[in-house]
Amino acid sequence: MFSTHIPYELLPKTILASKCLVVYICRNPLDQFISHRHFLIENRIEKNVEPLDIDEAFEMFCKGIHPFGPFWDHMMGYWQASLNNSRKVLFLKYEDLKEDIVFSVKKIAEFIGFHLSEEEEKHGVIEQISRLCSFENLKNLEVNKLGKTRVIQNSSYFRKAEVGDWTNYLSPSMAERVEELMQMKLRGSGLMFNSYCKDSS
Ligand SMILES: *[C@@H]1O[C@H](CO)[C@@H](O)[C@H](O)[C@H]1NC(C)=O
Ligand SMILES: *[C@@H]1O[C@H](CO)[C@@H](O)[C@H](O)[C@H]1NC(C)=O
Repeated sequence: MFSTHIPYELLPKTILASKCLVVYICRNPLDQFISHRHFLIENRIEKNVEPLDIDEAFEMFCKGIHPFGPFWDHMMGYWQASLNNSRKVLFLKYEDLKEDIVFSVKKIAEFIGFHLSEEEEKHGVIEQISRLCSFENLKNLEVNKLGKTRVIQNSSYFRKAEVGDWTNYLSPSMAERVEELMQMKLRGSGLMFNSYCKDSS
């Protein structure tokens, strides 16, 4: 088992040809932008170089300038793949996981062919798995508090894990811009995110 950020189109052909299963988790783009920004700033190699200011970074994000490509292409690649072959690719949203972890754990278990018996469900196995994999539990593991992989502090993978934290950093007009971008780029695909600019509608 391994994790990666690379776009679907760039996955090695052996992954697609093998029996390897793909679980894709995407996050709403605004939280993703803020999360990635914190990660980059915390792990920047040249600590004395000022990071891009947030407006400039946001401008690049909206233009699709990003180490893993534009967010809309990234999502759509895995989204289309999951529609085309739902036994190979499972598409999940971070927000759904946060809302109902039990439902999502069950879904993942079924997808990987690990069916939980009624007995196991009754005994709270799903809740136990959810607790083991929870943000709080993982964040507090020794390896994630103190470990390091080359220049990256493991602890920087665990920040807040909150839906909607972008509201503390981005303006309503920035959110509107991303919303418009998504409406344009994801149109007709069936992929949708909850509206961010409820006040403006
Ligand atoms: C769709 O899935 C089939 C296998 O079910 C595969 O052969 C084909 O390449 C896929 N097409 C796309 C566009 O992903
Ligand atoms: C955390 O750090 C350790 C080494 O200190 C490393 O072996 C491990 O793979 C890292 N974990 C993650 C999730 O990067």
